[in-house]
Amino acid sequence: MRVVRTPAELTEWTETARRQGRRVGLVPTMGFLHQGHLSLMVACRERADVTAVSIFVNPTQFGPTEDLARYPRDLEGDLEKCRAAKVDTVFAPEAGAMYPPGHRTFVEVTGLQDGLCGGRRPGHFRGVATVVTQLFALARPHVAVFGEKDWQQLQILRRLAVDLHLGVEVVGMPIIREPDGLAMSSRNAYLSPPERTRALALSRGLAAARARWAAGERGAEALREAVRAELGAAEVREDYVALVTPDTLEDLQRADRADARLLVAGFVGKTRLIDNTAIGC
Ligand code: PAF
Repeated sequence: MRVVRTPAELTEWTETARRQGRRVGLVPTMGFLHQGHLSLMVACRERADVTAVSIFVNPTQFGPTEDLARYPRDLEGDLEKCRAAKVDTVFAPEAGAMYPPGHRTFVEVTGLQDGLCGGRRPGHFRGVATVVTQLFALARPHVAVFGEKDWQQLQILRRLAVDLHLGVEVVGMPIIREPDGLAMSSRNAYLSPPERTRALALSRGLAAARARWAAGERGAEALREAVRAELGAAEVREDYVALVTPDTLEDLQRADRADARLLVAGFVGKTRLIDNTAIGC
């Protein structure tokens, strides 16, 4: 496995692979890899001849009061995991290589970036869209794989790839959960044992809403209430609970379609967690 640090090295590696007629896959990550990331690597290897993983804690997607400095990092451990997952190349740049002095260009996916997590974290998706566009420009992947846990991010990146004619297939993979239902996330590392137990309210709430939908409930408010009841019981502070169209993320009053998406964000202590589900899965 090659580890490359500079944008030029990444481009050289992927261009060589392209010239050899190989299909290039990319899995963008911020590191501190868990089973969810590893499932993205497996999915990428199934769809591509060569797989690159980027590990970069992207400063532009963190707000001024957010957790950039304390975001968990473990490059050595991540490289071991990538090796075990048979990744071909890891791209682990310094922030200055992605945003050199004089950098002024940002990418925005208007509308899609504004509500839900974007409404609560202004500028977050501008940072995500910018760094992913940079990674797409450097690696020119045929396919890129992202997790469905960041559902809004996935829809934004799909739109971005189409709108900018980037010729990359954006693939979303299902959320990987702990045996008790907690969606895997690098931020779970912040949770104390009692917080870890309370965090289960997110997945429990989504399951409760799905059960109500299966029993015939279609009203958005009642479905959102099912989530809120679990958050409240576990003293998880709601950031938002929303029922939206799966791709355009528009608010729904009713969940007539099984693929209507129910999304939740909440604070367990200081840690902000997100989760989501199709209402009818
Ligand atoms: O989902 C993430 O880990 C990040 O938002 C991404 C896509 C790697 C961009 O920094």
